Amino acid sequence: MKTYWCFLIFVFTYDGFMQGISSSSSDNSSKLVAVVVISRHGDRSPFRSFPNDKFFNESYWPNGLGGQMTEYGIKRLYKLGQWLRERYNHFLSDIYSRKEIYAYAPDFDRCLMSITASLAGMYPPKGHQIWNDHLSWQPVPVHTTTVDTDQIFTNNRYCPKYHQLYLQAKETETSFLKNKYSSFFEFILKKTGWTNADISDISMVRSVFYCYLNYNTSYLPDWYKEVDLELLEHLAGIKYAIPTTTLELTRLQVGPFYDFIFNHFNKFVKPTFEIRPAKFLMMSAQDTSMVPILDSIGCYKNTPVGFGDTVIWELSQQNDRYYLNLFYKWEDKLEQMDCCLNCDYEQFQKNLTYITVDVHQWKKECNSV
Ligand SMILES: *[C@@H]1O[C@H](CO)[C@@H](O)[C@H](O)[C@H]1NC(C)=O
Ligand SMILES: *[C@@H]1O[C@H](CO)[C@@H](O)[C@H](O)[C@H]1NC(C)=O
Ligand SMILES: *[C@@H]1O[C@H](CO)[C@@H](O)[C@H](O)[C@H]1NC(C)=O
Ligand SMILES: *[C@@H]1O[C@H](CO)[C@@H](O)[C@H](O)[C@H]1NC(C)=O
Repeated sequence: MKTYWCFLIFVFTYDGFMQGISSSSSDNSSKLVAVVVISRHGDRSPFRSFPNDKFFNESYWPNGLGGQMTEYGIKRLYKLGQWLRERYNHFLSDIYSRKEIYAYAPDFDRCLMSITASLAGMYPPKGHQIWNDHLSWQPVPVHTTTVDTDQIFTNNRYCPKYHQLYLQAKETETSFLKNKYSSFFEFILKKTGWTNADISDISMVRSVFYCYLNYNTSYLPDWYKEVDLELLEHLAGIKYAIPTTTLELTRLQVGPFYDFIFNHFNKFVKPTFEIRPAKFLMMSAQDTSMVPILDSIGCYKNTPVGFGDTVIWELSQQNDRYYLNLFYKWEDKLEQMDCCLNCDYEQFQKNLTYITVDVHQWKKECNSV
């Protein structure tokens, strides 16, 4: 979906930002009600690479190939947890409480490890929760489910209808781009040892470089210096947005995710619900889940999501009105995104009616090929 309502408007410094979430007891003031955090996992090894890459070899990856997290990834996500602790220190108790926070990760090692690392940064044990004087860590539960039964990140599940439409969209995009950037495609073929490459392959080259830049730059090939990196980044950015090319693709890709999010927020907004879920929902995800989530609401900036990049929704209440703010955190920067700036919750939900779909209906539509 190519209607970008929004781009970044402010880049806050960390300190300036903290004022934004302090709430006062006066009835008229706005009050933070619920937070949803979705972070990309930390630095990992590559899954695949091109034929001429000699560093795509287990012996250079002590934690294994196939997307396993590296120690840098653990560090990055641990730091993110410390940052979340500071930002939400007034919102969350010092002491871990299952009533306040719920952590969810899809069943991928790197996602499970990432959220575990962040929770360690958020909840160093205090008071009665200190159980070992030599270890500033306590177990915090992380919920998961098999990929095939995931109700939130259904984009990881096989959906025949989606698959069919996606391949068509990818083919169209590839032939357009191959035409437009033919010398770049030829250059990539020559250097990688491939005989053919589509837009996913180009994006994969970028992803391999990104892994190496964050692990050991000496793994980069000699020809890295000759690559038009800006174009590579641009093409990868396009590839990630193919799943949201049309409304139908978007619905099949992130419909159940938004259904889940609205069901979650509704429990804070609708007074008929007596049992509220934990007010802090923390999730780990992959870039292939995060880009469609952003693009479907016009918040994707056409650049790939980095390791540990984080999307934050804050649901606030002012009198009877509920509204959302959306933030994007990367490295040590935080942007408030104007695609959802104090946006009215009801209206936001209404705007997404067409793409929102519950998982049972989604399954039916997936199988209607
Ligand atoms: C709340 O806001 C209303 C309308 O803006 C105003 O009339 C009222 O005095 C405010 N109440 C408090 C306690 O600030
Ligand atoms: C992986 O690297 C090691 C050490 O450089 C080498 O001995 C081995 O042949 C490589 N394996 C493959 C499949 O290239
Ligand atoms: C990076 O890789 C090179 C080549 O394998 C190796 O000699 C070097 O020690 C590595 N650097 C780090 C920081 O691991
Ligand atoms: C809903 O969509 C309209 C029309 O595209 C837009 O102007 C408005 O900002 C959106 N509102 C929210 C809360 O997303």
